[in-house]
Amino acid sequence: MDFKVADLSLADFGRKEIRLAEHEMPGLMAMRKEYAASQPLRGAKIMGSLHMTIQTAVLIETLVALGAEVRWVSCNIFSTQDHAAAAVVVGPHGTQEDPKGVPVFAWKGETLEEYWWCTEQALTWPGGDAPNMILDDGGDATLLVHKGAEYEKAGAVPPAGADDPEEWHVIIDLLTRTVGEDKRWTGIAESIKGVTEETTTGVHRLYEMHKNGQLLFPAINVNDSVTKSKFDNKYGCRHSVIDGLNRATDVLIGGKVAVVCGYGDVGKGCADALRGQGARVIVTEIDPICALQAAMDGFQVTTLEEVVGIADIFVTTTGNFNIITAAHMAQMKHQAIVSNIGHFDNEIDMAGLAKLPGIVKNNIKPQVDEWVFADGHSIIVLAEGRLMNLGCATGHPSFVMSNSFTNQVIAQIELFTKTAEYPTGVYTLPKHLDEKVARLHLDALGVKLTELTKEQASYIGVHVEGPYKSDHYRY
Ligand code: NAI
Repeated sequence: MDFKVADLSLADFGRKEIRLAEHEMPGLMAMRKEYAASQPLRGAKIMGSLHMTIQTAVLIETLVALGAEVRWVSCNIFSTQDHAAAAVVVGPHGTQEDPKGVPVFAWKGETLEEYWWCTEQALTWPGGDAPNMILDDGGDATLLVHKGAEYEKAGAVPPAGADDPEEWHVIIDLLTRTVGEDKRWTGIAESIKGVTEETTTGVHRLYEMHKNGQLLFPAINVNDSVTKSKFDNKYGCRHSVIDGLNRATDVLIGGKVAVVCGYGDVGKGCADALRGQGARVIVTEIDPICALQAAMDGFQVTTLEEVVGIADIFVTTTGNFNIITAAHMAQMKHQAIVSNIGHFDNEIDMAGLAKLPGIVKNNIKPQVDEWVFADGHSIIVLAEGRLMNLGCATGHPSFVMSNSFTNQVIAQIELFTKTAEYPTGVYTLPKHLDEKVARLHLDALGVKLTELTKEQASYIGVHVEGPYKSDHYRY
C-alpha cells in the first residue's frame, strides 16, 4: 500500500481516540449499521480531501464499511492530526509492519509543494486507475481536476504570472509536469460521477463554475444541509475558536475586546463563544441583515477601521479576502492576536505584512508567530493566517462532525447510486434526509421529540413523519 504520513508508530494512540470518537458520532455509526448488508458504496473509488483528523478517520472508515475504496489527503497544510493519519493507514485490523487500512497522504506542517503533491497522489489510483467520486472540503481536489482537464484540452498550461500567489505557481508547476500524460486529468474528470462539498467556500467555487459553464460533473452542496452549516459552522466554531486561542496563546479572554469580522454561521458561533468567555465582542459586517442580527444579539457593530487600535483579539470569519490588511495590522495594539477561522488564508494579508519595511517575524512555537514592527511593537498571528481552530487546535469535536459527515455519507450514496438523477449541476440534499441526520443525533442527547397528531399535521400542512418545514424555511 502506498501512503505518506508523519509517523506510523502513532497509530495505537490514534486508534484509541478513534474508538472514543465513534461513541460520539452516532450518525456515522448508524450509517454503518443501516448499510452493512447492502454495501451501497461497493465499486466507489472515493478521493477525499478533508482535514485528516480523528473525526475524519471515523468518516473514512464508515465509507470503507459501506464498500468504498478510499484515498485521502488533508485540505490544509496544518490541519492533519498525525496520530489519526497513522491509525487510518494501519487500519483497525493491520499492524505498523503490515498496514491494512486506507492510503493517506497527509502530515501536519506540509509545504505547499507537498500539499499539492499529496492531492495528486490521492487522485491517482494504483494501476493507472482513476477515482470515480470526490469528497472535497474547500474545493482544492475539484479545482485541480478541473484545471488539469481544462489545460489538457487546450493542449498547454499557461505560465504563472509574476504577481500570482505562491500557491498558484505550485499548481501550475504540478500541472506542467503532468498535463497530457496519458490523458491524465481529462481521464480523471471523465471518470468522476460527482463530488460532495463540505464547506461554504468550496460551495461558492462550485456555483461559480456551474454559472460559467465550467463544471464537469454533478456536485452535492453538503454545507447547506441545515444539519451541517447551522451546526458545524456555528456550534463547531463556538467550541473550537476558543480552543484555538487557548492552545496558541493561553491569553485570558475575559475583559478583552474581541473583533469578529463577519456574522454568518461561523461568525455567530465565534462571537457567542468569545462573549461566553467574558470578552467585549465587536462585529463587522457588509450585509445589513447580518449586521442587524448582530446588533439585536447585543453586539456593537462597526467598521474594522473604527476599532483596529483598541481590540485585543481579531478573528476573521468571512470566506472573503483582504479583510485584515497589513495597514490594519500595523495600527493594532501591542501583542494583539490576529487570527482567521475562514477556509482560506487570504482573509489576512500575510504577504503584505511580510513586506512591511523593518518587519521581523519571531516564531514562538509551531503555528504561533510574533511579528515585530519597525517601531518595536508587535502582534501575534496564529497559524500563519490559516484556519486557526485546525491549525492551533484540533478543530470541531466529534459530535458536531457526526452531523456534517453523516450528510457527506448520504450525499456520496446519492451521487454514486443515483448518478442518472443528478445531471451536472449543484444540488442540496432533500429535507427528509436533513431531518434524518438530526434524528440520528437526538437519542445521544436524551432529546424527547413531540409527535404530531394527524389533525395537527394536516392543520399545518405536513406529514406526521415529516418533512416539517418548506425548503425556504431558514431555521
Ligand atoms: P457565511 O456566508 O454564512 O458568513 C460569512 C459572512 O461574512 C457573511 O455574513 C458576509 O456578509 C460576511 N462578510 C463578507 N465580506 C465581509 C467583509 N469584508 N467584512 C465583514 N463581513 C464580511 O459563511 P460561513 O458559513 O460563516 O463560513 C465562513 C468561512 O468559514 C468560509 O470560508 C467557510 O468555508 C469557513 N468555515 C470554516 C470552518 C472551520 O472549522 N474553520 C467551519 C465552517 C466553515
